[in-house]
Amino acid sequence: MILVTGGAGYIGSHYVLYERNRGNKVVVLDSMVYGHRGAVKDVPLVVGDMGDRLTLDRLFNKYPIDAVVHFAAFAYVGESVTDPEKYYNNNVRSTLSLLDAMRQYGVRNFIFSSSCATYGNPKYVPMDEKHPQNPINPYGESKFFCEKIMNAYDKAYGLRYAALRYFNASGSDPDGNIGESHDPETHLIPIALQVASGMRDKMTIFGDDYDTPDGTCIRDYIHVLDLAQAHSLALERLRDGGESSYYNLGSETGYSVREIINVCEKVSGKAIPVEMGPRREGDPPRLVASSAKAKRELGWEPKYTDIEAIIRHAWNWETNRKY
Ligand code: UFG
Repeated sequence: MILVTGGAGYIGSHYVLYERNRGNKVVVLDSMVYGHRGAVKDVPLVVGDMGDRLTLDRLFNKYPIDAVVHFAAFAYVGESVTDPEKYYNNNVRSTLSLLDAMRQYGVRNFIFSSSCATYGNPKYVPMDEKHPQNPINPYGESKFFCEKIMNAYDKAYGLRYAALRYFNASGSDPDGNIGESHDPETHLIPIALQVASGMRDKMTIFGDDYDTPDGTCIRDYIHVLDLAQAHSLALERLRDGGESSYYNLGSETGYSVREIINVCEKVSGKAIPVEMGPRREGDPPRLVASSAKAKRELGWEPKYTDIEAIIRHAWNWETNRKY
């Protein structure tokens, strides 16, 4: 059985859906600070904090857990700069507490939600896993520190892990049962679609003076269910005796902010009024993944590689939100 922390959040809930559709058994642990009850269907949900040892003891005693997929974390980059304590405490300390419980209960397989934010400003694109890790904000650092801890726990205690460094998670369940819902929302695609749906009047493009063809930032958008598939494959590999490793997960294609807004207009059939604003602090001009390693070693085959399909799924959700 798989313990999924943060399984009521955006990426975690799509992973739970993916495993459930394959008939695999999961139990979700979520603090519900940012999670949604409607995102967790037909699987046990334990509401609690990972820092609370009693909650972890109860979970590991009650369920036959042999693997942990750890999504739970705070993920607002800007907030991590203004309130680093929240990020180091939650993202690092609670991961430590989870790893220590795993050690005690003899659970060795660990899949970790890492981020391209662990690389910091790109020295080259597409970025492979050999790119130096030099995070530039406490959010990226918190994920980087966790990777370091996992590495040490592997050497010392035999932990087996896969650190999955996501680029920009996007899209939602094509059936529209679950989707992306952040409060506050800060991500480009949901914001653009909320303007299209009339929930917002307009949006701001954060900078059009970057060294890119249209001056706006370029990102690599990867469908959340393709991320889910990679977690599942990474876990299979560990269960089959694979070594610890780390993988970049992206579509290997970059789109500028303007291009994404254009696709959002096309998919929604609505005009999206934009105003130009200053650069957002900490935004690198261009982030694009090389995911060759995940494809080669995990057999990962992203299914939703068309940006229009990704945005169509997000639009279906945005116009029929369940939470
Ligand atoms: N953007 C706008 N206007 C908006 C929102 C976003 O112009 O209203 C721009 C951003 O400046 C950026 C691009 O759209 O250039 C994408 O921004 P997102 O906030 O959607 O996503 P990020 O690229 O900032 O994502 C980052 C990292 C992830 C990390 C995530 C945490 O790439 O690794 O933040 O939420 F996990």
